[in-house]
Amino acid sequence: MSTEQTLVLVKPDGVQRALAGAVISRLEARGLRIVAMKMLRLTPEMARRHYGAHVGKAFFPGLVEFITSSPVIAMVVEGQNAVEMVRRTMGATDPLQAQPGTIRGDLGVDIGHNLVHGSDSLESAAQEIRLFFSPEEILSYERDVDRWITGP
Ligand code: RTP
Ligand code: MG
Repeated sequence: MSTEQTLVLVKPDGVQRALAGAVISRLEARGLRIVAMKMLRLTPEMARRHYGAHVGKAFFPGLVEFITSSPVIAMVVEGQNAVEMVRRTMGATDPLQAQPGTIRGDLGVDIGHNLVHGSDSLESAAQEIRLFFSPEEILSYERDVDRWITGP
């Protein structure tokens, strides 16, 4: 059993479409625990750091423009295999390809407006969490329900 932390963003389209609650509910319903949360508007510099792996790709300028266009909600989400759990709960990058039942498959429309971000590996999770949160902003707590999610 490995407890992981991962970074989730409700992207500008999620906030603007008032779907932040739906996104957060789905993560909570999956048993994941929110251990940090804030609302902020990314600067272009922060966007370039967050999406550093995509620098030089054709979609990169549009991606930076989109992610900086309006506030996002950033969260650190914790749980067993949280990185993969979040990725599977989000669904494929392109909402058209995402399975029904996933966030993007149910609520998304366009690859450039896919509502939610989740780190793609433990390594990028650690980097991205550092970019958005200082260590003291990340809480450590247990919920009574956790023993019903993962067992005692
Ligand atoms: P994210 O990082 O936002 O969670 O999305 P992801 O891992 O599923 O996809 P990634 O490959 O990291 O791409 C980052 C974001 O760039 C946009 N994109 N557009 N037009 C295109 O071909 C294209 N490919 C990627 C998407 O908005 C994607 O979320
Ligand atoms: Mg990605």
